[in-house]
Amino acid sequence: MRHLMSPLDFNTEELEQLFQLANRIEANPEAYSHACDGKKLATCFYEPSTRTRLSFEAAMLNLGGSVLGFADQANSSAAKGESVADTIRVISCYADICAMRHPKEGAPMVASMNSQIPVINAGDGGHQHPTQTLTDLLTIRSLKGTLGGLVIGLCGDLKFGRTVHSLINALVRYPDISFILISPEELRLPDYIREDVLKANHVPYKEVVRLEDVMSELDLLYMTRVQKERFFNEEDYVRMKDFYILDKKKMTLAGPDMLVLHPLPRVNEIAVEVDSDPRAVYFKQAQYGVYARMALILTLLNISVD
Ligand code: CP
Repeated sequence: MRHLMSPLDFNTEELEQLFQLANRIEANPEAYSHACDGKKLATCFYEPSTRTRLSFEAAMLNLGGSVLGFADQANSSAAKGESVADTIRVISCYADICAMRHPKEGAPMVASMNSQIPVINAGDGGHQHPTQTLTDLLTIRSLKGTLGGLVIGLCGDLKFGRTVHSLINALVRYPDISFILISPEELRLPDYIREDVLKANHVPYKEVVRLEDVMSELDLLYMTRVQKERFFNEEDYVRMKDFYILDKKKMTLAGPDMLVLHPLPRVNEIAVEVDSDPRAVYFKQAQYGVYARMALILTLLNISVD
């Protein structure tokens, strides 16, 4: 039995197989519409979500399976004090696979250690968000044709942004990747990722504050939201929240093939006027999230259709 806690749980060959499967699903979804007949996915979400939970549920429904779960810990027995370990022991009796989001770093890992079914980390605190990373990599690979040789700008909340942490971990394994880290001083990438991931893998990077200064250098701009829920005080959040706003004017500084990704939800960091720019692919990215999660469910349940 296999779980997914981190994007590094799959090596690059396994990821390539998963992306090829996702592209086959995209090309011919009907061929997979009964692949999970009789299987059940539990979505245990202790933290709010729109995309991750609903795309997991859409993925399982598209595969012919069923879904059950909770979208709010207040409506689960966690509100009565039940531990994650006990919850997953029980969920193991009801479902074949579980996607779990939790505000505490490591909670899905605790679940996986007490589970009889595959557990997928659907986001744990400020730590990791591996299925967002699968989505991001699939989007880049499908639209750019490669995962190597790219200059990638990561902009916004690089301190608490788990999608950024997971994406960096995954991308350093591809050739000729370099990063431009764009953030205010207070929201810089944590030292442990700069030291243990970027420097340890000899990946070139630079850190800047102004987005305008680097737009022309980028193959890809990954925008992130300043996350209100990760701040300890409202004052700091208010000071940071509109630090970056990508608008049409800034987009004129970028090359014609530069793609803009965002894990969403977006608040103010991308002006709505940018949505009509063909380089803005964040809604396409959300669609790729369904194909990525369909491929992941099939892989973890060891179901082969092809
Ligand atoms: N990208 C992402 O994780 O979105 P949700 O919080 O809506 O799931």
